[in-house]
Amino acid sequence: MANEPLIEVKDLVVRFPVGSGLKRQYIVPVNHVSFTIAPGEVVALVGESGSGKTTIGRALVRILTPSSGSIHLGGADVTKIRGKALVAYRRQIQMVFQDPYGSLNPVKTVERHMRLPIRKHRQGREGAIGEQIDESLRTVGLTPVSEMRLKFPHELSGGQRQRVAIARALAVKPRVLVADEPISMLDVSIRAEILHLLKQLQQEYSLAYLYITHDLASARYFGDRIMVMYGGQIMEAAPADELVERPRHPYTRLLLAATPGAVHTGPLPETSNRSPNLAEGRVGCPFADRCPHVMAICRTENPPLLEQSAQHQVACHL
Ligand SMILES: Nc1ncnc2c1ncn2[C@@H]1O[C@H](COP(=O)(O)OP(=O)(O)OP(=O)(O)O)[C@@H](O)[C@H]1O
Ligand code: SF4
Ligand SMILES: [Mg+2]
Repeated sequence: MANEPLIEVKDLVVRFPVGSGLKRQYIVPVNHVSFTIAPGEVVALVGESGSGKTTIGRALVRILTPSSGSIHLGGADVTKIRGKALVAYRRQIQMVFQDPYGSLNPVKTVERHMRLPIRKHRQGREGAIGEQIDESLRTVGLTPVSEMRLKFPHELSGGQRQRVAIARALAVKPRVLVADEPISMLDVSIRAEILHLLKQLQQEYSLAYLYITHDLASARYFGDRIMVMYGGQIMEAAPADELVERPRHPYTRLLLAATPGAVHTGPLPETSNRSPNLAEGRVGCPFADRCPHVMAICRTENPPLLEQSAQHQVACHL
């Protein structure tokens, strides 16, 4: 069916232990999160530092196993798969990380970085692997390929390294890319180039993305839909223009109002220096301590994410 989601996340919970022995407690940075991504759709996940964005990304590519809830890809349950099934899953979903310096091995050439995933996922005969590497490098604009293949990470610029990371993720021909702040550590001058490349790839290969960012402007530019996250939960989700032009949740409004001009263009402003409570067993709306409209019910009941109008979901008691 045309509208069948490619990725379906239902009631996802991730909890981590903090402290040890008798002092052991748990934090829940992903607290009953549900969303879908359609084939070829770009879903931008926006939120302040510590809101749980990366943890969602890591759960999605199954670097970590969720505590509860489910993740389906193309209808198949991948929440707890391991071994060969997990390797096969990773051929369909890949992740690009924020730090292009940390994600490449300093003693390996570009070619070796590319060869490994292609081999692991048996994406072709040994003889064809070289051609496949060249094709991926050309796709991300790393030319001349004969030179680029032999380079070590320290011989590349930040932008070129991120291109290698993207090429490596693409080499296994995934259907979904989780891009976790892929431009935030790059020079301002090349951020637009890399974002443009990601958009081009999306159009050429009908790639679906979970695009994680602090920055509403890039979320609006790149995302078909935006989900705003706070304190481990999705506060608001809507088509990108709709969310920026008609924000409904007090937190989204605060984010948009905190910068001059109608459209937010910079990184997310710190609306407070108080970080959200992620402790297990917390009650009420995660945003209650900072919300100008807080009511009694907000302290005791967690507002569910409900559809307020077509495709526009809000989690708020107002
Ligand atoms: N493996 C872990 N063990 C314990 N706590 C963790 C672990 N990974 C993440 N956390 C905590 O979970 C919370 C959410 O982290 P996460 O990295 O998902 O946030 P984020 O929204 O990606 O933030 P940022 O914008 O800074 O990247 C943070 O408080 C973090 O310290
Ligand atoms: S539920 Fe209450 S505290 Fe939370 S955003 Fe809405 S009004 Fe504010
Ligand atoms: Mg993060």
